[in-house]
Amino acid sequence: MSQIVVFAEAAQLLTLDGGPITARGGAAQGELGLIERGSAVVRDGFFSWVGPHAALDLRALAAEPGASLEVHECRGKVVMPGLIDSHTHLVWGGDRKDELEARLGGADYEQIFAAGGGILSSVRQTRARDEDQLHAEAIRRALRMRRCGTTTFEIKSGYGLDLETELRQLRVARRLRDADGLRVVATCLAAHALPAERRGPGGRESYLHELCASILPAIAAERLAEFADVFCDRGAFSEHESRTILRRAQELGFRLRVHANELGPTGGARLAAELRAASADHLLHIDDDDRRALRGAGVVATLLPGTSLVLKKPYADGRALIDAGVPVAVATDCNPGSCAIESLALVLALACHGNRLSPAEAICAVTHNAAASLGLAHRVGRLAPGLAADLLLLATDDYRDLVYHAGSPLIAAVFQGGERVA
Ligand code: NIG
Ligand code: FE
Repeated sequence: MSQIVVFAEAAQLLTLDGGPITARGGAAQGELGLIERGSAVVRDGFFSWVGPHAALDLRALAAEPGASLEVHECRGKVVMPGLIDSHTHLVWGGDRKDELEARLGGADYEQIFAAGGGILSSVRQTRARDEDQLHAEAIRRALRMRRCGTTTFEIKSGYGLDLETELRQLRVARRLRDADGLRVVATCLAAHALPAERRGPGGRESYLHELCASILPAIAAERLAEFADVFCDRGAFSEHESRTILRRAQELGFRLRVHANELGPTGGARLAAELRAASADHLLHIDDDDRRALRGAGVVATLLPGTSLVLKKPYADGRALIDAGVPVAVATDCNPGSCAIESLALVLALACHGNRLSPAEAICAVTHNAAASLGLAHRVGRLAPGLAADLLLLATDDYRDLVYHAGSPLIAAVFQGGERVA
């Protein structure tokens, strides 16, 4: 028996459809494919029809033999794709709330890290937890994120920095996908920092060797991650080291993402372009040449304005990126230190206020462009026939309220594969 679910007569149906299937920069990023008084038909979890309500024959659907029909009345509401959080570090142990208070009192993020706190504190806490404990902490966060509208999660490892714990983190990500039914894309970020036990003479070289000769190959062999990422920045890995790691990852079949130019102009963005990474992330310190390189290589720029807010850093210039034709995605960066904000809906609003995106551009950034950066644009991110029916009902008739009333409980319902999940 086939299951038909209709979302009927939304004041605004944001389809994001009609433009290119690749990530969109320039004017195309602001085109929402908006249908007023629009409806969408879902069959067995996938959209089968999307269009103006006037063109929908509900009676014919009701009369279909062997089908069950459920109709959601959406008058006065916005219907839009579920949010896609294309940069998170969701699986970690413990917390760094003390560090947050210290930073609020004036302590510096990079100094805390250099003194063995920061990422290294989360590494200690993550190593001390078994898979079930890490899973219990991660699923709580993921379900809160879903209540805030997120239906697809990219999840990075990077709080293990040894083979065993990196594998454990990625197995938790897999469990969130396979046992908990979340849409998850996993990324190996074993190149997040030099682990504390390698900070002596020869330690750097030996960790780089271990990354390339054992950690990345083991993760590739278990198919635990589709992407590999490197923190190419001041205090983490140099451009040269990052190139070595990313090239090795590419050889092993990983697609690439790069933490680039967050703390300084460290060459990460150019490296992402050189290696044709799917995404270059953060990008606080880039120039016109970097933007040209990203555009030329088809790299998605993933901006993380929550991190700028929490660390009191400048906001990446999203306006300049879009105007230069670089497709922009926006994500939470949800992690235990630099930004533990879980609501991508809130971060979407920050992208307007901080990165100077328009509300329409920001919506494309957390839906279609995020999907494209994850290689999922044919499955999620738009309301279009054939795509999975991941969608949000907003308790407003104007999508701009997501920015205007940032932080208000506007997300009335979250659907994944046509089923209500929050
Ligand atoms: O994306 N920049 C590097 N990694 C994370 C922060 C990790 C942490 O502080 O735990 C980020 O901001
Ligand atoms: Fe990050």
